[in-house]
Amino acid sequence: MSIEMLSGKVTVVTGGASGMGAATVWAFVKAGAIVTLVDRDEAGACLVAEETGSSVIVGDVSDPDFCNGTVDSVVATHGCIDVLVNAAGVIHRADARDTVDEDWRRVMSVNVDGVFFMSRAAVRHMVPRGSGSVVNFGSIWGGVGAVGVLAYSASKGAVHQITRSMALDHADHGVRINAVAPGEVDTPMLASGHEVPPTAADLERLAEETIPVKRLAHPDEIARVALFLASDEASYMTGAIVPVDGGYSAS
Ligand SMILES: NC(=O)c1ccc[n+]([C@@H]2O[C@H](COP(=O)([O-])OP(=O)(O)OC[C@H]3O[C@@H](n4cnc5c(N)ncnc54)[C@H](O)[C@@H]3O)[C@@H](O)[C@H]2O)c1
Repeated sequence: MSIEMLSGKVTVVTGGASGMGAATVWAFVKAGAIVTLVDRDEAGACLVAEETGSSVIVGDVSDPDFCNGTVDSVVATHGCIDVLVNAAGVIHRADARDTVDEDWRRVMSVNVDGVFFMSRAAVRHMVPRGSGSVVNFGSIWGGVGAVGVLAYSASKGAVHQITRSMALDHADHGVRINAVAPGEVDTPMLASGHEVPPTAADLERLAEETIPVKRLAHPDEIARVALFLASDEASYMTGAIVPVDGGYSAS
């Protein structure tokens, strides 16, 4: 892969303050992209932006006005939006009995509404130009059922379907829409939301027992696939949900 595979591409990365979003910001900046990082965590976002030389817009992707305003302001500043990466997400670890209305709505509003609102705002600019690329963060749990993460799993299934349906709607508009479906990745989310927070040894055991390659993914390993999907190297890919899961979904 060429080092400057996104040279000059105007890119928005949501969830860029942490984990895989932050790794994506790093990977895209190194690939020559002009990155605006979007996150509700102001301190985290400013830190990553300062380290990578990207811009920041602080706010909540579950707010449609914020999403429209964010994309409009990037277009006003840079003249266009070439790439959108939807990495912002939240998890709630519970079955139906312990998922109260507020938990359900929070997960859906960030993971589903957020992806839809940002993507809608982006394609409104991309389609008239006849080019653009969107990369969504799905999950292995968007493709299969999972124990104890009902709302999250449902939300990621919706992300996969947003990806496929938008890809078809815009396939002949020059706009490609794909998703990565990560497995267990070593980010703050992995240890969050548990009744008893897992230790590093617990997470290692989880990897040993459930992942064919027997280790967690590093966030960079997912960011590199997002970079490929966003770039012209993936020019014939749209509507793809790409597992990056150490072999989990092969079984
Ligand atoms: N960690 C994993 O094992 C894993 C596996 C599969 C998929 N994913 C998905 O990958 C993506 C990145 O996850 P991560 O593990 O890096 O998580 P993370 O918790 O490290 O980072 C998520 C980021 O999203 C931001 N965010 C959350 N809600 C927001 C909102 N309403 N508006 C703006 N920003 C918001 C957070 O502030 C944070 O910076 C998520 O969509 C997640 O669901 C994670």
